[in-house]
Amino acid sequence: MSHEALQNLLHEDRAFAPTAEFAAAANATPDYYDRAASDRLGFWAEQAAALQWATPPTQTLDWSNAPFAKWFADGKINVAVNCVDRHVAAGHGDQVAFHFEGEPGDTRTVTYADLLREVSKAANALTELGIQAGDRVAIYLPMIPEAAVAMLACARIGAPHSVVFGGFSSEALRSRIVDASAKLVITADGGYRKGSAFALKPAVDEAVVNTPTIEHVLVVRRTGQDVEWTDKDVWWHDIVERQSEVHEAQAFDAEHPLFILYTSGTTGNPKGILHTTGGYLTQVAYTHRAVFDLKPDTDVYWCTADIGWVTGHSYIVYGPLANRATQVMYEGTPDTPHRGRWWELIEKYGVTILYTAPTAIRTFMKWGDAVPADFNLTSLRLLGSVGEPINPEAWMWYRKVIGGDSCPIVDTWWQTETGAIMISPLPGVTHTKPGSAMGPLPGIGAAVVDDQAVPVRNGGGGYLVLTEPWPAMLRGIWGDNDRYVDTYWSRWPQYYFAGDGAKLDDDGAIWLLGRVDDVMNVSGHRISTTEVESALVSHPAVAEAAVVGAADPTTGQGIVAFVILRGDAAEDPNIVKALRDHVAHEIGAIAKPRQILVVAELPKTRSGKIMRRLLRDIAENRSLGDVTTLADPTVMNLIGAGLQSATTED
Ligand code: WTA
Repeated sequence: MSHEALQNLLHEDRAFAPTAEFAAAANATPDYYDRAASDRLGFWAEQAAALQWATPPTQTLDWSNAPFAKWFADGKINVAVNCVDRHVAAGHGDQVAFHFEGEPGDTRTVTYADLLREVSKAANALTELGIQAGDRVAIYLPMIPEAAVAMLACARIGAPHSVVFGGFSSEALRSRIVDASAKLVITADGGYRKGSAFALKPAVDEAVVNTPTIEHVLVVRRTGQDVEWTDKDVWWHDIVERQSEVHEAQAFDAEHPLFILYTSGTTGNPKGILHTTGGYLTQVAYTHRAVFDLKPDTDVYWCTADIGWVTGHSYIVYGPLANRATQVMYEGTPDTPHRGRWWELIEKYGVTILYTAPTAIRTFMKWGDAVPADFNLTSLRLLGSVGEPINPEAWMWYRKVIGGDSCPIVDTWWQTETGAIMISPLPGVTHTKPGSAMGPLPGIGAAVVDDQAVPVRNGGGGYLVLTEPWPAMLRGIWGDNDRYVDTYWSRWPQYYFAGDGAKLDDDGAIWLLGRVDDVMNVSGHRISTTEVESALVSHPAVAEAAVVGAADPTTGQGIVAFVILRGDAAEDPNIVKALRDHVAHEIGAIAKPRQILVVAELPKTRSGKIMRRLLRDIAENRSLGDVTTLADPTVMNLIGAGLQSATTED
């Protein structure tokens, strides 16, 4: 973040108190903070008790094998029973779980009774396909109800799922299947996006050629497009429809693995973040209740994330369903068929709680106030933000234009690794400031520290750390415990290092400043610079590549790549396009560089380390900082000159 932006943050003195009306009815009350502070583990035990356990736990945290935590370890529970069965048993079978809206305008209403039938049948089908507790299942689906059903069916039989975002490439899917030794992939023929059908099945066909562990591919028919068929393939409608609607759910240990979700770190290999059952469900349910103030009988909740990201796991599937939410699920993009699609859906379903990302908010700001003005948004009563720092301007726009100047905004900081929200205001309690995530939730310990792990004073900046283990924390990296310890617990062994910079203002409120490592945040999606570099150098025309994240007014950061080409590749007029497509093939379209600069040389220190700081200066059109440590300072002039010929596309 630039110096100027920091100064602006420090001068942000607007604050918004909860209205008396909101506070009076809020789920979370000020005493939460006191209760959690005086008996943190007791507070978490209370949150766990809100779930339906087959064997209620008597233990809370076991940190004896730190940093490998166990929570509620002697308890037994079934996640799907908590998210579905118990609501039907309590008489809420007719309540809508999902108002599904396909991009072409097709709709489906899925009640909790429907969900119970679908999840039970799917669980029976998985069993018929030979999936047992502990087996890994890859899920590669568009945003359709079957995505939630598939996840819940896996959870129901204790088979950890690994959801791979549908926008990722075949190669990304293949490497994730291999890393987790998955036995089954659940996919679809395709889905709808930007007004047309895209295909998923061909990417799966390509991936499974090289994944010997995959025994079957279970295919949902969504678009009806033609698909190639092999003897591993099974149609969802063939096998699931003929199953019994009854499935006897077994309870699993609280520490049984629930899912693996791959996310980018500082190396080229994404890491499989491992989450387990009881602690995870406890914290997602608690945070969803406290932060979104969900009233299950009256609210209509809409989280716009894709199920392929952790936000979709925790705040579409597990948290909201555990709390018996009625939700909107939307398949497509916000501008199809028109730029008011989201606002139209809010009006149509009477959405009361909206949870989205700053990049979307900034896009809507750009499209102008007139678009949402055409729709009735008065049903909204709470707004949430996640994925990256929200700038005060976007926060104020969200509040005024979408929230009618009356909805509390919860800016929620968390990560794939944390599993659930960690830092956020509590609506009805916290006085919010535009752009600040405010403070750790009750039960959570967070601090901003300097290099020596000393907490900074108010007004100071440093690294965000988590000071206490929490129930939804990752239990490790799949197959690589050393990397887990190295990445998160080696900088300061007593603290979890989040990888984010942060600042405390004069009142001690936390302002997130973005990543301090080589992880970029593009539209709220984590992509590592090394991952994109590896993809680039895997192209035969590329000799060397360096990638940096540059500030971008809409997407937060944009990917800028500097490449040295081999031989006469520079003469190929289409080389930049070929490289962008190659990255899309290796990782996915979201990782396509915004700009690729062909350079003759990269700035390196005498020890050969690429000086990314200088590349960032160039990518952000700043005057260069100190270049004296460069092996060859004239390199920068050459690169600077190359900028003029840089290519920017879509
Ligand atoms: C960033 C997404 C500022 C942060 C849930 C974090 C945020 C990374 C916020 C995790 C926020 C997420 N304010 N930054 N409210 N929320 N981040 O794993 O850099 O996809 O480390 O999880 O997103 O991204 P992930």
